[in-house]
Amino acid sequence: MFKKDFPYFSNSDITYLDNGATTQKPKSVIDSQVDYYEKYCANTHRSNFGDANKATQKFENARKTVKEFINASKNEEIIFTKGVTESINFIATSFAKKFKTVIISSLEHHSNIVPWHMQGRSLGNGLEVVKCNDNLDFDMENFEELLKANPNSFVSVTHISNAFGKIHDITAITKLAHSYGAVVMVDGAQSLAHLKVDMQVMDCDFFAMSGHKTFAPTGVGAIYIKEKYLDEVEHYQTGGATIDQVDFNSSTLLPSPYKYEAGTQNIAGVIGFAEALNYISHVGYENIEVIENELYQYLDTELRKIDDIVFYNDIHDSVGSRSFNIKGISHDDIGILVDKMKIALRVGHHCAQPIMKQLGINGTIRVSLAFYNDLNDINMFIEALKRALKMLKD
Ligand SMILES: Cc1ncc(COP(=O)(O)O)c(C=O)c1O
Repeated sequence: MFKKDFPYFSNSDITYLDNGATTQKPKSVIDSQVDYYEKYCANTHRSNFGDANKATQKFENARKTVKEFINASKNEEIIFTKGVTESINFIATSFAKKFKTVIISSLEHHSNIVPWHMQGRSLGNGLEVVKCNDNLDFDMENFEELLKANPNSFVSVTHISNAFGKIHDITAITKLAHSYGAVVMVDGAQSLAHLKVDMQVMDCDFFAMSGHKTFAPTGVGAIYIKEKYLDEVEHYQTGGATIDQVDFNSSTLLPSPYKYEAGTQNIAGVIGFAEALNYISHVGYENIEVIENELYQYLDTELRKIDDIVFYNDIHDSVGSRSFNIKGISHDDIGILVDKMKIALRVGHHCAQPIMKQLGINGTIRVSLAFYNDLNDINMFIEALKRALKMLKD
């Protein structure tokens, strides 16, 4: 129903089911890029002529759009970055470094694991991992034990697992963490494409966003920093646009958000990010939820008819991604064969090696949906999967 808004689908005969990796872009987002480069290409926050002012205004309007979209309190709480990876690295370096203990979940993407290792942390040595059960549910009791043993720690957890689609109850996690004096950062890479988020309800202290997973261009994203931490988070990079006064002896920085946005930003990307959020508002999360629920359940029902299928979680408290294996058959072989049948999906560890290792596997086949997918996409995929399995078994 919404595919007509995405030029990719009229130019391609691919069945696109790799939305967890990146999403397609609606025409309004693509047009916003062409518009900037063709009609008012100028730098922001520097020059004072017409197009420069227009670019600055669009950029700052985009900040307001992001702020309103996630229900943050102030525009200053929204800092543009390259995406979730940069957002997490920024907060890890400029704020969380000083915490004795960082607590993460079992389902983290490498972006929320490797930065902590780079600080010299390892399991039991500055890094703790909350257990999950056989259905990949976040173990609240274990979380509380870790918080008790490590008060005033830094908690950094994903909202939705990119590998398995599992949703973490961030509101409950934050409430518990705060009661033990912890500060909470959320990896929201997979959130905005599927679910409404609200900073006042979730009450997390940092929330990392990815543009390209949210129908926006690549190389753009943002981090929400709760107002009370704006003075505590140190600068990340410095240079042009971050400063108030500079002489050869010293420099003074501007307040947030400018002190965190060094150098010329991804201006077109930021404008495109806001356009993508406007597009989501136009579609509406009520519609997204209904469409995705139907697709997710249909996918699950059809997959369950396949012999020897292995799932790692049921579909409750999950959204977007469905991961599985077929006993005795390599996921890589299936990936190669379905690609030849024009099905785009991801096989492998999905940048989540630790949980794969814990499950005793080296990867899965992952189908990841967006609201523009339809039942026909799932039928095409199931057909291709059956043909691939027949070839591999014969
Ligand atoms: C859960 C999760 N976190 C972080 C990332 C990295 O996001 P970005 O590409 O915006 O840096 C991804 C991308 O796959 C992801 O799925």
